[in-house]
Amino acid sequence: GTTSDLAGRHVVVSAGGTREPIDPVRFIGNRSSGLQGYALAKVAAARGAKVTLVAANTALPDPAGVSVVRVGSALEMREAVHAAAPAADVVVMAAAVADFRPVSAAGQKIKKTEESDTLPIELVKNPDILAELVVQRASGQVIVGFAAETDNVLEHGRAKLARKGCDLLVVNQVGENLTFGAPDNAGVILSATGSEREIPLGTKEELAAAVWDEVATLLA
Ligand code: C5P
Repeated sequence: GTTSDLAGRHVVVSAGGTREPIDPVRFIGNRSSGLQGYALAKVAAARGAKVTLVAANTALPDPAGVSVVRVGSALEMREAVHAAAPAADVVVMAAAVADFRPVSAAGQKIKKTEESDTLPIELVKNPDILAELVVQRASGQVIVGFAAETDNVLEHGRAKLARKGCDLLVVNQVGENLTFGAPDNAGVILSATGSEREIPLGTKEELAAAVWDEVATLLA
């Protein structure tokens, strides 16, 4: 795409990983660094877009020219994304949103006891923000999801694209020492129209640029 192909467009990008509170000092989290989402936000801004970045628990500086909304949990991310989405031409859900949260967070720090060696924590499903966005989408709005998979990456990605109903789904392989926190990423951009574009290992900015190329084509 050309350097200003997103001029006049408003895009919302989510980044980072949500934290689901167990008690005031503990949470269930994940290994997302936020780097891929931030790269998407930076590249969109550089291509002329007005960018709202909904960032969950990242240690990264606010990108220049990007409006950043910081959130903690999946429910907070849901509020922030739904607040920004109606005015957006594009929503990219790059954040790792927890699929489950503790049913209730304890009001005080949970203490060890002599009586029990186990501590059951019951979890409840979080709302699927991406699926909600698809249901509520404004006409012409482009919605992009990410799928981080450890195995059978393409199969899981194709199934997820169909299930979620978004326009594009970027699949990438992740693991404890793979992708998370790394400057590089590789992936495949799956389109609802059936096209599959493989992006070789490169910087997260390069993957971001390829995603915006596909988005710009859909907007045109
Ligand atoms: O189902 P899974 O979590 O693998 O789907 C990943 C995609 O769905 C990502 O784009 C993620 O941001 C989004 N998601 C969401 N709300 C959830 C879980 C995932 O929007 N509760």
